[in-house]
Amino acid sequence: MIEKLKQLKSKLAEVSDLYSTAALLGWDQQTYMPPAGAEGRGHQLSTVSTLAHIKFTSDEVGRLLEDLKGPAAELDPDSDEARLIKVAARQYEKDTKVPPEMVAEFAQVTTMAHQVWQQARAENNFEKFQPYLEKIVALRRRYADLFAPYDHVYDPLLDDFEPGLKTADVQTIFNALRPQQVALIQEISSSPQVDDSFLHQPFDENKQWDFGVEVITKFGYDWKRARQDKSVHPFTTNFGIDDVRITTRIMPEFFNPAFFGTAHEAGHAFYELGVDHAFSRSPLAGSASLSIHESQSRMWENLVGRSLPFWEGFYPHLQEYFPSQLGNVSLEAFYKGINKVEPSLIRVEADEATYNLHIMLRLELEIALMEGSLAVQDLPEAWNSRMHTYLGLTPPDDTQGVLQDIHWSSGMIGYFSTYALGNLVSVQLWDCVNRDIPDLTGQIRRGEFAALLNWLGEKIHRHGAKFEPQELVERVTGSKIDPNPYMHYLQTKYAQIYGF
Ligand code: CO
Repeated sequence: MIEKLKQLKSKLAEVSDLYSTAALLGWDQQTYMPPAGAEGRGHQLSTVSTLAHIKFTSDEVGRLLEDLKGPAAELDPDSDEARLIKVAARQYEKDTKVPPEMVAEFAQVTTMAHQVWQQARAENNFEKFQPYLEKIVALRRRYADLFAPYDHVYDPLLDDFEPGLKTADVQTIFNALRPQQVALIQEISSSPQVDDSFLHQPFDENKQWDFGVEVITKFGYDWKRARQDKSVHPFTTNFGIDDVRITTRIMPEFFNPAFFGTAHEAGHAFYELGVDHAFSRSPLAGSASLSIHESQSRMWENLVGRSLPFWEGFYPHLQEYFPSQLGNVSLEAFYKGINKVEPSLIRVEADEATYNLHIMLRLELEIALMEGSLAVQDLPEAWNSRMHTYLGLTPPDDTQGVLQDIHWSSGMIGYFSTYALGNLVSVQLWDCVNRDIPDLTGQIRRGEFAALLNWLGEKIHRHGAKFEPQELVERVTGSKIDPNPYMHYLQTKYAQIYGF
């Protein structure tokens, strides 16, 4: 067995190297590549990804996994070896079930759909995008059917982002969350509103960059193993456990995006930097799921970065950076301003209180599309009516409605719920870490983050992709993903800010 496991690990390491190479090409594409490089880069990415796919789905890997099945059953099911074999076998089964023709057709349709979506969004023309989205929905249904029998046609799609999670689980969670979120927003909107106009004024871009760097350095960002660069859409990627990259975007006349985006991406980076080095170049060197990843970013962005203790420590320093903008803004006014709740049409601009409603809307529509109970042509109307029910707003056009997000044009159906689940998990973990580190609030006020980062490293980061998301959350918190801690957090926070 030891010899076979060694052979498997060596094959998986090569696959991992190829995926890391593709990630590096992708990072460069979004940061430094000159625009004319796009075509060549497309070929390179496609070649490297295809090589990785061929290597991973080879008969040799299949045989090794098959041969290791028996011996693996004898191992401690929680051992790294047993988990590595389990995770690799699961991925192998998935990847080999999809015929290469379907992979090629999906790539071709989504490449076209992405271009058409960009035009359709610019021209506010949903009808232009409609036939492409119809093709994508049909292809995703065919994809799901490869994994039949399933409880729900949406399950195989969700499973790609949240291993082991079922549509029914997410629906149960969201059904409990929805009425409470709607009620909270109504309570906030009937209270005196918060002023955040001081956040919308010129802030020197270099100073914004420097302040963000200073804060994430205090958080514990390891510049020997990680970088930060600029890109249009902020993201985190890595080419190994010791080479993690985040990007940020600076708005010259709005404080929030660069700072909170930097804190968010640093949270993602801590996860990737914290994986056990023993998992290097293996399928375990990832994350449990996207929701667990997002729980880390939202924690540093919101539970740390939008908290009063954090700014009690850092606000005087921020005022030194921006004396003319913030010199006359009190700490209390600043804290309220960065936490202003305002139902808006655009998900990426949503505050903590309204964010999840944007996600629920998309999940419900995706499920209806996959079930066939909603036709693509009726999507804009379904979008607008839900937007009105949940947030009291009606998009003036489809550009600010159904066409706003990139995901569907890229074929990513099944992705959205991970954002909301990440919010829920972040607070479940936060409650635990506060129990384990009773002085956490004081530490945050003093700008000390080592104990928090160590706790996350120990409980979450080091395990990489070893556990499925529900399993990991239950191991750490004692319960599965639960909406109640998050609602309690929101209600307490906003009752204080809005005075109800
Ligand atoms: Co994120």
